[in-house]
Amino acid sequence: MREHFTAIAEKIKNLDPVEALRYFAEHYAGKIVFSTSFGWEDQVITHMIFANDIPIKVFTLETGRLFPETYYVWNRTLDIYKKPIVAYHPNAELLQDMVSAKGPNSFYESVDNRKHCCYIRKMEPLKRALTGNTLWVTGIRSEQSLNRHDMSNLEWDEQNQMIKFHPIFDWSLDDLKEYIKINNIVYNTLHDKGFPSIGCAPCTRAVAPGEDFRAGRWWWEDQSKKECGLHATT
Ligand code: ADX
Ligand code: SF4
Repeated sequence: MREHFTAIAEKIKNLDPVEALRYFAEHYAGKIVFSTSFGWEDQVITHMIFANDIPIKVFTLETGRLFPETYYVWNRTLDIYKKPIVAYHPNAELLQDMVSAKGPNSFYESVDNRKHCCYIRKMEPLKRALTGNTLWVTGIRSEQSLNRHDMSNLEWDEQNQMIKFHPIFDWSLDDLKEYIKINNIVYNTLHDKGFPSIGCAPCTRAVAPGEDFRAGRWWWEDQSKKECGLHATT
């Protein structure tokens, strides 16, 4: 797989995001998935996939702690496109053990607790979602953080031994908003209220003007610890 990587990068170099998604869907038929958190990047990609009937499995990690606004967008998206979005839930026993032992909000108490919660609610379900697939599509944009700046739209994911593709990696926030407007795409209203990046409700706050895109994620933690492990290089 890894050896084909340069050839693939060359193939999609001059394709627009929809063409590239089509190419991959054909090339990795039945082995390509897209993860959505229902943020506006993801809504754009969902629109590209569903409106163009591209055979890519769309899934979400239902952590159980999402914002009401996020659940609303999820349901609206099902209503509009009438296509499946597969929900991966945490393993019931692992979740029950953690919450029984530490309570529902243990993530505020230590980085270890927070990582444990992210493992149970996101990482373990993600592993199940990715198993058997070859290519993972995400809504990552380079502008989202300094670390993401150093990434590229196509990557080899060592941890999951698969290819990762970020179709709108180079888009600016203005590009994104423009596309949403032109295509009348439903998006999370929290984005209009100071939430550029939206994760679980207890772990996401609004950011002040001028603050980093991801400043509102796990805001109580040291900058260097702020990752949940979904994207190892981020
Ligand atoms: S995170 O690493 O901080 O959680 P972020 O919110 O920036 O990630 O989202 C980046 C990409 O990760 C999204 O475009 C999406 O592909 C994926 N992602 C994040 N959260 C989820 C989720 N709950 N379910 C599915 N995919 C997700
Ligand atoms: Fe748990 Fe917060 Fe991680 Fe969500 S973001 S899985 S609530 S620690």
